[in-house]
Amino acid sequence: MSTRRAFLSSGAALGALAFANSPARGSSVSSPYPLNELEARIAKKDFSGLTKDMLPTPCLLVDLDMFEANIKHMADTTKGNGISVRPHVKVHKSVDVAKHQVQAGAIGLTCATIAEAELFSGSGITGVLWTKQPVSKNNILRAVALSKKDPTFMFVADDAQVVDWVQEAAEAQKAKLRVAVSVDAGMARQGIAGGQPAVDLAKKISSSRNLQFEGIMAYSGDAAHTKGFEARKKKSSEVLAGARESKELALKAGLPVNIVSGGSTGTYNIDHETGLTELEAGTYVFMDTEYFIVGGKDGDMKRYNDWKPAMTVLTTVDSQHHPNIITTDYGNKVLAKKTDEVKDMPWIEVGVQGAEYGALRWKDGDRAPKLGERLEIYCTNLDQSTNAFDRYYVLRGDHVVDVWPIMGRSGAAQR
Ligand SMILES: Cc1ncc(COP(=O)(O)O)c(C=O)c1O
Repeated sequence: MSTRRAFLSSGAALGALAFANSPARGSSVSSPYPLNELEARIAKKDFSGLTKDMLPTPCLLVDLDMFEANIKHMADTTKGNGISVRPHVKVHKSVDVAKHQVQAGAIGLTCATIAEAELFSGSGITGVLWTKQPVSKNNILRAVALSKKDPTFMFVADDAQVVDWVQEAAEAQKAKLRVAVSVDAGMARQGIAGGQPAVDLAKKISSSRNLQFEGIMAYSGDAAHTKGFEARKKKSSEVLAGARESKELALKAGLPVNIVSGGSTGTYNIDHETGLTELEAGTYVFMDTEYFIVGGKDGDMKRYNDWKPAMTVLTTVDSQHHPNIITTDYGNKVLAKKTDEVKDMPWIEVGVQGAEYGALRWKDGDRAPKLGERLEIYCTNLDQSTNAFDRYYVLRGDHVVDVWPIMGRSGAAQR
């Protein structure tokens, strides 16, 4: 079916026409061109009659039911286990998502960059923790400025030199800064050694006139993705030994330890027993295929069933001329990867043909995708994929009910 008739009978075409001509939409926008109307409607948050088959692809979809279930599961579990959540925003970069998290009880947010911290603190959310230390003059001055503007803002340091630099800047600006010690959790990327070195740094912070020692931060991405629940528990406990020792020594030295922060989607039901007071988990809101296969407490190694796969990339099959392969618009520019999965079609292999060209392959006998068909892809790494898009289309079933901007992901806003 490659005729005009076939196209018009496809859901996508009918959807677009219905959208452009819908008498029920109550829109004052006169353009019959669906993209202009779409943008005008989004600006007004008028989503009546808008379904996912009308959306331009590739684009990100969020299944609101699944997203809400993930938020609730995290809130319920952590409440039951007596551990707080300060979710990481790097995976979603969305103030809308963050507000759902805070409403469900999150005590603040964790950020990867000063730009993210400024953005999310600027949205009115308190308790923002920046988990990299400021080293450049630019970052030091911004950390000081943000601390003045938002006294609940915190950041980490893992080096005595950095503590001197931030103290000097804070004194000059008459600012008070909240600083946690970043302790090595086995990733060889940041963090001072746990135990005495960490406590010496904590003492230095505590005795600096303009600084307040806040506690300890120790994050392990290795523990997060260790396969199998028991192995993950063992790994997390091992890599956090230094953080536990640091806390103990700090308390003995008379330093109050307000937080021990770390943890992840993989260790959310583990780290209340490994010494953390709060979790920085992020991916749980949407999930990705890297996490699908880590295995949960239920022992299912094919799916990490604790969380629902709430986010997909919608793509359109746009060419079919060769056996067992079709082309989509899900290519390199939106970070297509071989380890992605096609929703409801696990036999399809995801590949890339170019910047705007994705390739889907299957074996003889498998159901083949068809020209014009819309498919949904589970991405491999959430924070990389979300950074390639500017918005989430939020769905209840097939209906668009909201659009959430993905913020601070390009240009000055992300530096
Ligand atoms: C410092 C830090 N904390 C927390 C997280 C969030 O972990 P996850 O998305 O695996 O839940 C990350 C993710 O990379 C991180 O870098």
